[in-house]
Amino acid sequence: MYLARCVLLSLLVATSAASPQHDIISRQNGGTGYSVKQPPLTTPWTDKVGTEPWPEYPRPQLQRPKWQNLNGVWSYQNASNLDAVQTPPFGQQLGRKVLVPSCLESGLSGIQDSFTLYSWFSNTFKVSSDWKNQKIILNFDAVDYEATVFVNGKKAGFHRGGYFRFSLDITQHVKLGQENELLVFVHDPTDYGDAVIPIGKQTLRPSHIFYTPCSGIWQTVWLEAVPQNHITKLDLDANMDGRVNVTVHTSAANATSNVMVTIHEDGKVLKTHSGPSNRPFQFSVESPDLWSPDSPKLYNVTVQLGNDKVQSYTGFRTITKGKVDGVVRPLLNGEFVFMFGTLDQGYWPDGLHTPPTKEAMIYDLKVLKSLGFNMVRKHIKVETELFYQACDELGLLVIQDMPSLRPSQSKTNPVDCSSSPILPNAEQQNEFSRQLDLLIDQFKSFPSIATWVIYNEGWGQITDYFPEIELTKRVKQLDPTRLVDSVTGWYDHGVGDFSDNHHYANPQCGTPFYSINSSPYDETRIGFQGEFGGVGNNVSIEHLWNNQAAIDTINQTYEIDETIESWNYRSHLLLGELADQVKRFACSGGVWTQTTDVEGEVNGLMTYDRRLKRVDEDQWKKDIQALYDAAAARSNATTSTP
Ligand SMILES: *[C@@H]1O[C@H](CO)[C@@H](O)[C@H](O)[C@H]1NC(C)=O
Ligand SMILES: *[C@@H]1O[C@H](CO)[C@@H](O)[C@H](O)[C@H]1NC(C)=O
Ligand SMILES: *[C@@H]1O[C@H](CO)[C@@H](O)[C@H](O)[C@H]1NC(C)=O
Ligand SMILES: *[C@@H]1O[C@H](CO)[C@@H](O)[C@H](O)[C@H]1NC(C)=O
Ligand SMILES: *[C@@H]1O[C@H](CO)[C@@H](O)[C@H](O)[C@H]1NC(C)=O
Ligand SMILES: *[C@@H]1O[C@H](CO)[C@@H](O)[C@H](O)[C@H]1NC(C)=O
Ligand SMILES: *[C@@H]1O[C@H](CO)[C@@H](O)[C@H](O)[C@H]1NC(C)=O
Repeated sequence: MYLARCVLLSLLVATSAASPQHDIISRQNGGTGYSVKQPPLTTPWTDKVGTEPWPEYPRPQLQRPKWQNLNGVWSYQNASNLDAVQTPPFGQQLGRKVLVPSCLESGLSGIQDSFTLYSWFSNTFKVSSDWKNQKIILNFDAVDYEATVFVNGKKAGFHRGGYFRFSLDITQHVKLGQENELLVFVHDPTDYGDAVIPIGKQTLRPSHIFYTPCSGIWQTVWLEAVPQNHITKLDLDANMDGRVNVTVHTSAANATSNVMVTIHEDGKVLKTHSGPSNRPFQFSVESPDLWSPDSPKLYNVTVQLGNDKVQSYTGFRTITKGKVDGVVRPLLNGEFVFMFGTLDQGYWPDGLHTPPTKEAMIYDLKVLKSLGFNMVRKHIKVETELFYQACDELGLLVIQDMPSLRPSQSKTNPVDCSSSPILPNAEQQNEFSRQLDLLIDQFKSFPSIATWVIYNEGWGQITDYFPEIELTKRVKQLDPTRLVDSVTGWYDHGVGDFSDNHHYANPQCGTPFYSINSSPYDETRIGFQGEFGGVGNNVSIEHLWNNQAAIDTINQTYEIDETIESWNYRSHLLLGELADQVKRFACSGGVWTQTTDVEGEVNGLMTYDRRLKRVDEDQWKKDIQALYDAAAARSNATTSTP
């Protein structure tokens, strides 16, 4: 978000890398040798994490009863370079204890180091003998950035891409009923040297709007037992006409077997339909209750392939665009939906990319929902699938960003523009494109996701040719059921479904005026305010990320309001200005910066520790409702009430 274009920031000086405190909290956990390191700021959940974090079943749309969670205390040791992977430390005790899942840079990891470019993680596991004659699949829900996995001394697989699940068939390496050794080598360059990889807000040199990076195994690791021929993935789309489009991918990817899909409503079978595996087929359900933010109705789905039976769910809804009263609008189930949400970074002072608990993660979403937001923009980060399930259940549309490449600025300081830009070379661009495919492929069955974003504010966006043209076609081909916001902010070349402006603090949403950092509204596309607001309000040290370099950047905030009252007064004016633009011009939605403070940014609805809400709740609810009312008055839109 909201770095003004480079020229405006060339005055800023570099700040030194964050140097979090390393005082060890005396909180040893049950003789495991692991302890939380004191982070620069805690949350109400820091103490609730314990040594069995994220116990929840992690794959809500393809559930099986036979699984084993490998989260917990593992051992860890750093390594010095890529060659280390050639000499794995098999059968050795690694020197330190680490909590999995976590970011190595976070207090919750128990490590809290920086520049953790090369790492070893090790653990042992036992597999129950009733998993005999089944295949054993080892799942990593996210490892940042590259993982090489060894089981009992044998290489079991490799994966690149810091935000996505990968699954390895480890059957041949596993000994039933005995200890098995799991060893993982992780390489995470973030923005070291010439590396240009999808990182979002991570940087090795944190400064104001760019934050402490996350390295290592930061989402759940788990095992499951599956039949020889089993379902590997479900692609599910259900629309407002009751049509269900399913692809049941199986381990016998080239064979066609019969699969049975059953839709349930409140425990009763609504419809059963069989079709072939590994290719799309369709069937219809008679007048289903549609999914929307006001009524987030979901239907359970079971799918059977031979003796493999999995549980899933879907929601019936259609996302399109169309003209309403002469203005191009986003349509949900055929009606104009004014999408209003926050810029949601998903950062935590104790866990960085890993929320301390599921409850903590959902707390943020519930705060947004209760204020009346009907959308959340997941900003250049990808969350656990449980986040998207929560949005499906709560009724929050999701605008999902692809994690961006490093901002096109200098090697040593993400906000210094004096040296030449670092843009992806052809190979790095291909890898960005491959990971964009991974994003869509993994997450496209979540009903709440309404829009994919490819580029944010020009970061990693090559501008001497326009890569978003091909990428937009690619995304539309992979997922024809959603809108694409090809470029949110800055370098708009007329591609995609949105004409999306970023402007701080006040909005310019679908308006016949614009500023130096934005493009004019294009009436052939949806007029949208991809970011605005961002007004700051400093707080006392106990709610701040207690890191001097970060505190020294607080004065880079566009606007500081000295009191909570003045912050709410300014917010009220800015929301009112957006409502005015909805009434007069072609504004179809907006994104307020932001859900919470992050490190040196103090512009959240809540502080970074979630202990303090800045919002005057009654006033914000009224101001947000006024936006939906203004949209409804323009076009008979569906009004949204929380
Ligand atoms: C691991 O980190 C320690 C402390 O920073 C350092 O002294 C050591 O050389 C590192 N080991 C390797 C193999 O890089
Ligand atoms: C069904 O979904 C697949 C992708 O999963 C898509 O290629 C196909 O066009 C869809 N079919 C219909 C009829 O929408
Ligand atoms: C499916 O067929 C393709 C092309 O013949 C082959 O490369 C691939 O290995 C096959 N996959 C499986 C799972 O048999
Ligand atoms: C779906 O299944 C889950 C687990 O079996 C159950 O808790 C939930 O109530 C079901 N939901 C609906 C809408 O039937
Ligand atoms: C912000 O604060 C830092 C450190 O306190 C100071 O060096 C810098 O000059 C200030 N910048 C502005 C724009 O006031
Ligand atoms: C913000 O508050 C902190 C803690 O009280 C203080 O150290 C810092 O100087 C303040 N910064 C600004 C820009 O007000
Ligand atoms: C809005 O609603 C009114 C009254 O129901 C109707 O006459 C009018 O055609 C509607 N306009 C649009 C754009 O749907």
